[in-house]
Amino acid sequence: MALSFLQRSKTPIHSRIKSDDATRLRLKYDTYYHIFEKQEGTRVWKDGEEFIMLSSNDYLGLTHHPKVKEAGTKAIEKWGTSTTGARLANGGRSFHRELEEEIAAFVGKEASHVFSAGYLACASAVTGFADRKDILFADKNLHSSLWSGIKLSGARCERFSHNHPAHLRELVEFENVDSAKIFVLEGVYSMEGHIAKLPEFMKLAKEFKAFVILDDAHGFGVLGNQGRGVCDQFGLTNEVDVICSSFSKSLAGSGGFVAADQDAIDYMRSHSKQTIFSAALSPASCASASAALRVMQEEPEHRERLFSNLKRYRSILSDLKLDTWESETPAVPIVLGEKEKVYYFWKALLEKGIYTIISIAPGVPPGKDLIRTAISASHTNEDLDRIEEALHFAKSKI
Ligand SMILES: Cc1ncc(COP(=O)(O)O)c(C=O)c1O
Repeated sequence: MALSFLQRSKTPIHSRIKSDDATRLRLKYDTYYHIFEKQEGTRVWKDGEEFIMLSSNDYLGLTHHPKVKEAGTKAIEKWGTSTTGARLANGGRSFHRELEEEIAAFVGKEASHVFSAGYLACASAVTGFADRKDILFADKNLHSSLWSGIKLSGARCERFSHNHPAHLRELVEFENVDSAKIFVLEGVYSMEGHIAKLPEFMKLAKEFKAFVILDDAHGFGVLGNQGRGVCDQFGLTNEVDVICSSFSKSLAGSGGFVAADQDAIDYMRSHSKQTIFSAALSPASCASASAALRVMQEEPEHRERLFSNLKRYRSILSDLKLDTWESETPAVPIVLGEKEKVYYFWKALLEKGIYTIISIAPGVPPGKDLIRTAISASHTNEDLDRIEEALHFAKSKI
């Protein structure tokens, strides 16, 4: 036994694991992977201590909505916990088709396909269409799921400066007019809260005949008519070829979707390995997402509350002269610029019972080390009072 352990621990991978700085520092500072033993609305409990969650993406505050919870429970009673297999092999179920039709109708596309994670959906939105011979043009600040899709597609990728159509133009002009081009964008950039300059990007797409894939994980439920997303907000739903998104933000669930023309969805189902070889979205997740989608349309008060909370939160941050990187949405970074400052600010907020997330370079551009916060419709006035007090305290500590 002892000998086999010694032999195994000699592999380069074991040495890498033992000496990894990122893991050593993460464990030392204990900044990520916290476990909470209880959750109620915006409150979470860790070791008996209560915190206000200021970093989840429950924008509309639907995680505890009775209709959303009931739909999930009923679906388990009717269908069981899983379909235990990929759709291509074991077949989908009527609840998949129903949700896909509801999503397609809501975002204004012909068809959609639902996945068991937003990450899979967004990676598939790229791998389902991009081919080795194509050229991808990607915003430098895209989410990891899209980078995974880009890498897996094998296509050449040119990165343009964040939300910078003029830079994209320079790169596209340089390429052969005949090569197949794909733009990869986000509707709302998840760390920065910036809204994509979609009208300008779409003008370029038209001029250079580029296919456009847009991840609207943080715009869906927030922007556009009833939360239809950033394409709806700009009246550009027909022009954007593929919209992908996650259920783990406004829809308060897990899973994700890709929406496009029927032909494009059929094509993706033949070409994306993540679509073909991954198990179907569970009955409970499907039913909860469906219920949340209905709530979004029938109960506008959640979005109204989200925006009134956001207004107050922004004014607190602006009074404190904290840099929010010109965020325009409920995803609000507090940019402090140095990882040490970020750490002390985060710790001070924690001490005052406010839970946030640290994001430092290389996760964000150098000099943009930040605390990532997000406001929810379910934050109460009392939550906001406590957040304000904690931010004053944290600011005094850096
Ligand atoms: C922009 C963006 N795309 C995709 C995802 C992946 O979604 P999920 O967490 O539901 O897998 C996220 C999640 O953080 C995201 O922010």
